[in-house]
Amino acid sequence: MKRDELIAAALEAREQAHAPYSHFQVGAAVETESGEIFTGCNVENASYGLTICAERVAICTAVAAGHRKFVACAVATPGGATPCGACRQFIAEFADRLPVLIIDADTRTVVAETDIADLLPRRFHLPTNQT
Ligand code: THU
Repeated sequence: MKRDELIAAALEAREQAHAPYSHFQVGAAVETESGEIFTGCNVENASYGLTICAERVAICTAVAAGHRKFVACAVATPGGATPCGACRQFIAEFADRLPVLIIDADTRTVVAETDIADLLPRRFHLPTNQT
């Protein structure tokens, strides 16, 4: 894992957050198996429910560039919040296990290092004969 690069990328991505409603700016970064880093920020909308979280933007950006395999993820929020349930499911789509670094953007430090398997045990998946 390119730990320092990943942390810096999540913090930098956070600067692009469009969060005029919550004022809660989030940045995320994922590292692909090939060592590339893709980032995302939260993008809010006046129709609140349309808001997209930073983690999902990062994953979508990587997937759209042709990547499906990830080795690590970092999320930067004020106070070091953990990813929401929807983002956990979204990340778990692409990795049974994936280190997730939780960064407090105020102190620019990693406050927790966890794994998607621990954040979301028993993720939803379709029965195998449906896939
Ligand atoms: N948010 C994220 O970007 N990621 C999460 O995992 C949780 C919440 C965003 C959505 C919204 O723009 C703001 O944080 C407050 O909920």
